[in-house]
Amino acid sequence: MNKRIYIETYGCQMNVVDSEIIFSIMAKEGYERVGAMDEADIILANTCSVRDNAEQRIWGRVEEFRKCKERNPEVIVGIVGCMAERLKDKLILTGKVDLVAGPDTYRTLPEMVKEITPDKPGINVLLSREETYADIIPVRTDKNGVSAFISIMRGCNNVCSYCVVPYTRGAERSRDPHSILAEARDVFSKGYKEVTLLGQNVDSYLWDEGDGEKMDFPGLLAAVAGIDPSLRVRFATNHPKDISDSLLETMAAHDNICKHIHLPVQSGSDRLLEKMRRRYSREWYMERVRKIREILPGCGITTDVIAGFCSETEEDHQATLSLFREAAFDYAYMFCYSERPGTLASRKYPDDVPPEVKTRRLNEIIDLQNQLSLESNRRDIGKVFEVLVEGPSRKNPEELRGRAGSDKMCVFPGEGHKAGEYVNVEITSCTSATLLGRIAE
Ligand code: SAH
Ligand code: SF4
Ligand code: F3S
Repeated sequence: MNKRIYIETYGCQMNVVDSEIIFSIMAKEGYERVGAMDEADIILANTCSVRDNAEQRIWGRVEEFRKCKERNPEVIVGIVGCMAERLKDKLILTGKVDLVAGPDTYRTLPEMVKEITPDKPGINVLLSREETYADIIPVRTDKNGVSAFISIMRGCNNVCSYCVVPYTRGAERSRDPHSILAEARDVFSKGYKEVTLLGQNVDSYLWDEGDGEKMDFPGLLAAVAGIDPSLRVRFATNHPKDISDSLLETMAAHDNICKHIHLPVQSGSDRLLEKMRRRYSREWYMERVRKIREILPGCGITTDVIAGFCSETEEDHQATLSLFREAAFDYAYMFCYSERPGTLASRKYPDDVPPEVKTRRLNEIIDLQNQLSLESNRRDIGKVFEVLVEGPSRKNPEELRGRAGSDKMCVFPGEGHKAGEYVNVEITSCTSATLLGRIAE
């Protein structure tokens, strides 16, 4: 009988792709993917270290995994991904896991698994300067067969002082564009209608063909968009210091490049941006927002923000709130600062904003953003958007859900349409999270 593997994926979209890569590598060894841990011979958590609560959650899951192992001692329980890279052999020393594998070591998983015995765990946390898994065709794990993630680069060369990602993912490297295009063509031929190109900082994508020819991110994006007009292209994440006019112009030139930019701001205070080592000012950020709105009217702009970074004063916090109002984001991912061991901030700056102050500030940002999201959605009432149907609405199975180019979720009566189709939807009402509408005449 085939051996079976189960993976729980946490963290960002990069980890989603990495789990698909692991499934692909293990499938070559005869491992079948299963959806329940008690059916599996190998149980893995693909983990995130970005905030402490992300890691705490994993520990709870490992306890669950251990219960399967108590029932069947042959089962291998492993931690892979960012937490594996951050904690390394400390994870083995807990005695709770048999396998620890960092993000650049997945090709070695089959060998590691073969060598693991009840008293000999396996560990590989080497980071690589070259690994991009370019030749590995991920086993897609999305549920609807409409939208696929494609990793175009790995690692990060920035040194944002709060961030653990450069330590868990290593140095930045770009993937061969030929393999990216081949993967995009392949998913399109299998019926997918949307690809999202992924990197921690897509604007610094660069491939040297070796013959003097170079491919930058706008070039790559245009090439992927050129595959077929009915293939939608998205990408994430952009860094405000690197997002170029040439990217915006490329977006404007292709109808099938979705008009949405995720542009994490982190703070509205210049003093904190400096301390965070973001290498842009508030003024620079707002100039980029204005440029996006000028070149791409109607473009969705979303952001990430951290409340309560080291030494944040009430004035700094007010600056973040005022930047949010000025930028009028469509949506935001909002977090309390969480000190990560080993980062520059953890070494240089005390984590001195009391937890209750962090939470209060975070809630103020959330309240403001809810209001901004609602206002942004209200401005869309009466407009018609081309929506790519993803499937039935979560709340009402009679209705369909799908995204507009701006990334806003739209819900509408389906009238016989199904996942993977494009429909024009006229927006008739909204909540702060969703646009509601009907199929346009
Ligand atoms: N490469 C992406 C972000 C990756 S991490 C970028 O630079 O935009 C995703 C988000 O997590 C970050 O944008 C930041 O808002 C948040 N984050 C990162 N480290 C954090 C920390 N130590 N505490 C709280 N939030 C953090
Ligand atoms: Fe972290 Fe900054 Fe790199 Fe984003 S750009 S992954 S926040 S170091
Ligand atoms: Fe992603 Fe979390 Fe790692 S955000 S890169 S899985 S630390």
